[in-house]
Amino acid sequence: MNFWQQIKKPIKLLAPMAGYTDSVFRSICKDFGADAVMTELISADAIYFALKKSKEKLLKSKTYSLMQFQESERPVVIQLFGKDPEKFIVAAGFIETELKADGIDLNLGCSVKKVLKSGHGAALLNDIDQAVLIIKSLKESTKLSISVKTRTGFSDQSEILKFGPELAAAGADAIIVHGRTAKQGFAGEADWTNIYKLKEMLPDTIIIGNGDIKKYDDIIKRVKNLDGVAIGRAALGRPWIFSGKEPKSSELVKLIRKQARLAYKMKGKQGIIELRKHLVWYFKGFENALELRKASIMIESLEDVERILHFTSGVGSDSSEAGMVQN
Ligand SMILES: Cc1cc2nc3c(=O)[nH]c(=O)nc-3n(C[C@H](O)[C@H](O)[C@H](O)COP(=O)(O)O)c2cc1C
Repeated sequence: MNFWQQIKKPIKLLAPMAGYTDSVFRSICKDFGADAVMTELISADAIYFALKKSKEKLLKSKTYSLMQFQESERPVVIQLFGKDPEKFIVAAGFIETELKADGIDLNLGCSVKKVLKSGHGAALLNDIDQAVLIIKSLKESTKLSISVKTRTGFSDQSEILKFGPELAAAGADAIIVHGRTAKQGFAGEADWTNIYKLKEMLPDTIIIGNGDIKKYDDIIKRVKNLDGVAIGRAALGRPWIFSGKEPKSSELVKLIRKQARLAYKMKGKQGIIELRKHLVWYFKGFENALELRKASIMIESLEDVERILHFTSGVGSDSSEAGMVQN
């Protein structure tokens, strides 16, 4: 079943961000109204080689911990990178029968050197036949929805108009497009022009635009003829972007406390360490951001988090906005 078709439009997808969009943060974004979430990129090869040894080997691996999700996150998509269809088929089998995720996404957008060198991620934009083969193999081997997250091109913004229809013809149920080329990385501004054109060419495929959505109002401004938008960086420290309702400082304190407790429950001390960078995002724009940042990057326990929350002046008060500047 193509779950993408079942979501009310415009779809608001939490874009995958390695190191940030773990189960904890995804479920927070889901609470604020994200319609679907995606894991960070996970190696199809790593899943394949672990499984080849034994299922137990995979279950004990870091790779497996990246794939785990909570029921409340659904619909949840596992994003895979790699280049070998056989590895994708094995990984998809596990994702469908053991994890029971809702979809699998093929990463065609990552332009990190190491990934490109291996012929993975955006490198496949220079070998679309291989990407097509992967999508076809996935469609034949699993009933899960198959999406692709890509860029507008490897070096030219118009490439998407050629390879996008090929990905759809191979069976991609949804195509999520970041309006920058791989060569651009994160430089310049995202250009959505060809994403709108792609949707005109593919009216029956779910097309989701991505890049530089900064606030809730941008969602409607940008979505136009598309089926939805994916929001990445603007959700960091502001997961309420999906609802458009900015919290009062007392609500923000409750939110951070909830995220900290969930992080601790799911990952123990490591969850608190990983929370550090989220706190830095939450406190961006605060009057005393520098002090809060310094304290945030030292936290090791829930008690440390509580101590920081006391500095924000939002503890125990529903009306106090002290310390909180428009974030
Ligand atoms: C820290 C970071 C990690 C990212 N990791 C991934 C990833 O694992 N998979 C992926 O497809 N895109 C990844 N991206 C790209 C984002 O999903 C998104 O396409 C990009 O940030 C543009 O959207 P935005 O302007 O809303 O942030 C990452 C981006 C950032 C900033």
